[in-house]
Amino acid sequence: MADIWLREVAEQFGVRGPLRRLGGEYDLNFRGETAEGDVIVKAMRPRGEAALVEQQCAAIRHALAADPALPLPCLLPAEEVRVWREVTDEAGHRRMVWVQRAFTGIPMGEAGPQSPAFLSELGALTARLDLALRDFTVTPSPDAAKWDLTRAGWIKPHLDLLDGSRRGLVAGIIAAYEALAPSLARLPRQTLHNDLNDFNILVEPRLGEPARISGLIDFGDMTIGPRVCEIAITAAYAILDHETPEAALAAFVAGYHAVSPLSAEEIDLIWPLTRMRLAVSVVNSTIEARGRPDDPYVTISQAPAWRLLENAAIDGELMGPRLRNACGLPVTDAAGRIAAWIAGQRGRFAPVLGRPLDDLPAGSLAVAEATIPQNPFHLRADEARHLGAGIGVTAEWWLGHYGEPRLVYTDKAFRKGPWLASNRRTIHMAVDIFAPAGEPVRAPLAGRVALAENRTGHLDYGGVVILEHRTPDGDVFHTLYGHLAAKVPAGLTPGQEIAAGEAFAELGPAGENGGWEPHLHFQLALTLNGMGHDWPGVADPDDWALWQAICPNPAALLNLPDARVAYRPVDEEALLAERKVRFGANLKLSYKRPVTFLRGWRHHLFDTMGRPYLDAYNNVPHVGHAHPRIRKVAMDQLARMNSNTRYLHPAPMALAERLTAKLPKELEICFFVNSGSEANELALRLARAASGGYDIVTPDHGYHGNTTGAIDISAYKFNKPNMGGRKPWVQLVDVADDYRGRFRRDDPDRAQHYAQQVDGALAAIVERGGKVAGFIAETFPSVGGQIIPPPGYLAAVYERIRAAGGICIADEVQTGLGRLGDYYFGFEQQQVRPDIVVLGKPLGNGHPIGAVITTRAIAERFAEGPEYFSTFGGSNLSCRIASEVLDIVEEEGLSANARAMGEHLLSGLRALAQHHSIIGDVRGIGLFLGLELVEDRDTRVPATEAAAHVMNRLREMRILVGREGPADNILKIRPPLTIAADDVGMILDRLRICLREVEAARR
Ligand SMILES: Cc1ncc(COP(=O)(O)O)c(C=O)c1O
Repeated sequence: MADIWLREVAEQFGVRGPLRRLGGEYDLNFRGETAEGDVIVKAMRPRGEAALVEQQCAAIRHALAADPALPLPCLLPAEEVRVWREVTDEAGHRRMVWVQRAFTGIPMGEAGPQSPAFLSELGALTARLDLALRDFTVTPSPDAAKWDLTRAGWIKPHLDLLDGSRRGLVAGIIAAYEALAPSLARLPRQTLHNDLNDFNILVEPRLGEPARISGLIDFGDMTIGPRVCEIAITAAYAILDHETPEAALAAFVAGYHAVSPLSAEEIDLIWPLTRMRLAVSVVNSTIEARGRPDDPYVTISQAPAWRLLENAAIDGELMGPRLRNACGLPVTDAAGRIAAWIAGQRGRFAPVLGRPLDDLPAGSLAVAEATIPQNPFHLRADEARHLGAGIGVTAEWWLGHYGEPRLVYTDKAFRKGPWLASNRRTIHMAVDIFAPAGEPVRAPLAGRVALAENRTGHLDYGGVVILEHRTPDGDVFHTLYGHLAAKVPAGLTPGQEIAAGEAFAELGPAGENGGWEPHLHFQLALTLNGMGHDWPGVADPDDWALWQAICPNPAALLNLPDARVAYRPVDEEALLAERKVRFGANLKLSYKRPVTFLRGWRHHLFDTMGRPYLDAYNNVPHVGHAHPRIRKVAMDQLARMNSNTRYLHPAPMALAERLTAKLPKELEICFFVNSGSEANELALRLARAASGGYDIVTPDHGYHGNTTGAIDISAYKFNKPNMGGRKPWVQLVDVADDYRGRFRRDDPDRAQHYAQQVDGALAAIVERGGKVAGFIAETFPSVGGQIIPPPGYLAAVYERIRAAGGICIADEVQTGLGRLGDYYFGFEQQQVRPDIVVLGKPLGNGHPIGAVITTRAIAERFAEGPEYFSTFGGSNLSCRIASEVLDIVEEEGLSANARAMGEHLLSGLRALAQHHSIIGDVRGIGLFLGLELVEDRDTRVPATEAAAHVMNRLREMRILVGREGPADNILKIRPPLTIAADDVGMILDRLRICLREVEAARR
């Protein structure tokens, strides 16, 4: 029977093939195919009114006439006014049936949370739809009444269906809603779509750019109301499960405002209305769930709404100012007036510390300037007590900047997420006046005490007072005085009048002021919305525009020009522009949006605003960025001397001893150089001197450095355009990639098969009349794609090379010094003993030093040539630093950490691979890991674009990883050896989100 009526529908509208049922609350929706493409067949509820269908069609046509570019349904047949037909369904009910051209894309609800750029576009589109519907006249359907946000109070009698805490929560939302009813009633009304929920917005996710909004559908719930209802309804669903719902809402509202400006009064209604819409949704579902107690879907579908409603991290009070700020309006109606009045009084305020401040020096604690705290995750007590000394300020009186990003706020309370690299509040919202303890503090203008208390926590305010002031116009604002003496609060009572210039407090000593060098933290707030009891004194850089508007520069109250105390941020645009002027275009920057780093600590880096990033990429800072022991040893040696290997000095001896102790005993002669490239150049000379040959066998896609000789043996470079290709004395063999290469893991003899290619290379050398000097390979090829060759590979290669009189060189620049956990050098894993080992990158932890270690026999043949000398190689400083690196690896157990964290990462990545088919391969040992992305697991077509997206997205999410392989589709994870379990958790968590995004974009 069902088939018969659907067949009739199909005939009426020229639909070919079967109709597929889609979702829908009352009406039936089907997808089918016509000669004009895919269509959606809408079969209205039985006894539906023709007028309602006609109204929807008319609204769509009206909106399209006003704004033809709106992505609205195209009605078929397009030329007919009356598009619907009547068909009897399988139950004998007459249904109106009509057809629209189908959209591409998927419901926004299936695509997952969207970027701020997308939300801003959605806001703009919502505004355009509202403008297009403005003068359309609608008769709301009776079924839509419960979704009319101006009449949402109907949920109140159903509150008792909710359990205790939720009942209270929703009661609060209703109370707030009732309080705004008069404002709502004052607003002009118009026709609204009224149901732009996450399934009525269709999107086409795209890699690396915001999803395209392909359709706004379902005009069945149109109503008449203020446009803020439309905004609140759309927003309620658009920000569900967003990690930063406040920022998401702000982006959406700003997008709307840019197209159709909102008044401040309207903006203030948006958040309470958004919550009310979600309350209606959860109450409605709870009512429905009563009728369908066995249907878990009803409850599950409400989970995101409850999560948003119950999200304690959202500061509702701050939402009004936040949304106003996002739209470029003052945070409160009075804010602009207050700021202007204060600015106008500059020079007339009583001096806060009893003296003019304009002659005081300023000291900077900025990320860009200061090196305190040494550990940006832990400000030491002595650092806090001697801030000035820490930045070279010798004066007792000095000023600290407003708007300055600082790393001194290290307590967990300043962190905004679970990880060390989560957002963190860094920007100082006050002016600091450093002065001796005991200095009296005076009110710059008359006020009354709003708060006086002693906050005794370490690095808190100690004594703190907030004064309330009033402008002559009656606008209220507040000033805060932090780090006062402990006795101050007891001497003040809330409400107490303080005269202008009255000394109402005094600066506290470190023992009373939270442990800081004595100073006054002087902050202005134009509104108390969002300030809470604690008054945040520092802001998250991502929220700085908002906080700057709430707590502007208080310089005028100190009778200072704003610029005198305003921090001037590092101009990254200028840096970028300058770089383009000063450097060649092939000196590449990482990431689509380059990043500036100014500080580092262990496996984290900090940008100009003090935002922390997890460094999961850099292997040079082997024992971690800014290691205090490296700094100490470098400073010590620089204080003594720094010269070359022409003089005797214990440092090169000590390093040679440490290195050789880690190597097979026959590798006993060391050469120290400046870089991996120089080391490989030397390795080639050694091999040639010892073998009498010139030709080199090396795997494809290898990289050994940037010098002419090193490039000659680096297929990764010489095969690039304009590089001249392979020299006749270089023979390439396949890289032993058993995932993608010629011989794969299903072949038990793959190691032998790869090694056999050396025979061909040797034969080619003979054929051209050459003689082999040796074989060079990165033990685990890195730029070739983080490859772990199959067991037995190098042994079989070395055997062949040695039989032909060649020397075996292991380039351990990437793999040496403990990165692999179980193996101090990569060749140990391959169970071979090279004749020459090359070291670089990690050896100096960022200081330029490389090493070549070889046998006595080879060194002796080399010594038959001219003097060997490298000016900087083996300097006293370099050798001491390198020895310290080796000691730190040992003493901090970093190899063991590399093993444990590597295993943790590998198992997490493998678990991800079970859910994400884009992961073709997970490989690696220790902290040398690769994640190969493929379009299809069978064809293994490289997913290059996806890998680029993931790498750039991870950077946005504050994780640095790289990309390697001939097709650039392998994500390279290669952090400093200090990485910890929490950081691994962050990588896996964020990676999961990126992979979901990639998969959404390819559906
Ligand atoms: C395996 C390998 N060898 C040699 C080098 C060259 O080292 P450098 O850049 O210090 O000259 C590199 C650099 O990336 C490398 O990865």
